[in-house]
Amino acid sequence: MNFQSIKNIDVSGKRVLIRADLNVPARRGKVMDTTRIDRLKPSIDYLREAGAKILILSHFGRPEGEQNPEMSLAFLIPTLEECWGCDISFAQDCIGEKAQKVVDGMKSGDVTLLENVRFHKGEKANDPDFVSQLAKLGDIYVNDAFSAAHRAHASTEGLAHHLPAAAGLLMTQELNALDAALENPEQPVAAIVGGSKISTKLNVLNNIVEKADYLILGGAMANTFLYAQGADVGASLCEAEMKDEALKIMETAKKANCEIVLPIDCVVSQELRVKAENQIVDATNIPAGYMAIDIGPKSIAAYQKIFEDCKTVLWNGPMGVFEIKPFDSGTNALAQTAATLTNAGKLKSIAGGGDTVSALENAGVVGDFTYVSTAGGAFLEWLEGKSLPGVAALENAKKAA
Ligand code: 3PG
Repeated sequence: MNFQSIKNIDVSGKRVLIRADLNVPARRGKVMDTTRIDRLKPSIDYLREAGAKILILSHFGRPEGEQNPEMSLAFLIPTLEECWGCDISFAQDCIGEKAQKVVDGMKSGDVTLLENVRFHKGEKANDPDFVSQLAKLGDIYVNDAFSAAHRAHASTEGLAHHLPAAAGLLMTQELNALDAALENPEQPVAAIVGGSKISTKLNVLNNIVEKADYLILGGAMANTFLYAQGADVGASLCEAEMKDEALKIMETAKKANCEIVLPIDCVVSQELRVKAENQIVDATNIPAGYMAIDIGPKSIAAYQKIFEDCKTVLWNGPMGVFEIKPFDSGTNALAQTAATLTNAGKLKSIAGGGDTVSALENAGVVGDFTYVSTAGGAFLEWLEGKSLPGVAALENAKKAA
């Protein structure tokens, strides 16, 4: 990775514009999960101790260039103050007089949160004029928002071309972890991919089979592969129209020496509700009217054995309908195996993607994995092997002194 870290630059007395991702889950003005905020603390602490004037840029929601009070960042102040243990000022705009006034009053070590960058159309358009207005407020640009790095927006990409730029500690940590998972992993590598549709993860699957030794499939997307091989999947969720794509992925995997591992058995039910009546059947022969909603015990044992044989496991997507108990059993059993092997120093476990984090939280193992990414969409684009504009811009940026 060819970019500068904040640790290697002199930020003392400088105005540092740091792009964070404060797009956190919230309900009725209350933050529901502080993970993204907590993970930003090391960069904030470091910059405060180093005497920077810290200006935080972030989006929240998708206000599409309109000033929308429901998506103001102001509600975050008490949570940020609590999580980061410092006072934080708020500027009611991220550019112009209102922002400038707050910035002019800052001292070294002060922290200011600027209003939602997406209140301006120039953010999404990466408009040079908007970028210049943001740049006026700072001396150095720091990107610490890996989870927004798949967006080529003004505050995630444009600013890196206007100001000397560096990566924040979270950005660096995310990229190092992902590199250790797929680019330079300890081998053998198993990628475990679940979720409902292969159509949304086609590029992910195609990229993974080129890099991993095993591609373990679960969730409804496994049904499409089983169906493509002629299995009877009953009433299970299945993308019949993706049959040829599934066969193509299997062909590519074979050429790349990647073993695609499908469920042997599964838990089926006629209805999707808590404690619905269910049974375990052969995954290739699901009775009419029944749908697969979790992987079965034989599949769990087979997948666990692969985990034991591997040095790295990369996880994206649940194995079943984990939101409805007890159909989280397959996901939980495998997550716990990965956690135990990780704690024993036998495995590196890296996970990411929206649903994945909730599934691992439900299994109670987030803290036991080697690394759980804060990113949703960006994690998936990275898994596709795409270059992320926010990361590429950092690599090509003018280095800070
Ligand atoms: C996310 O929550 O994944 C990021 O903040 C990106 O948000 P977006 O999809 O609205 O760009």
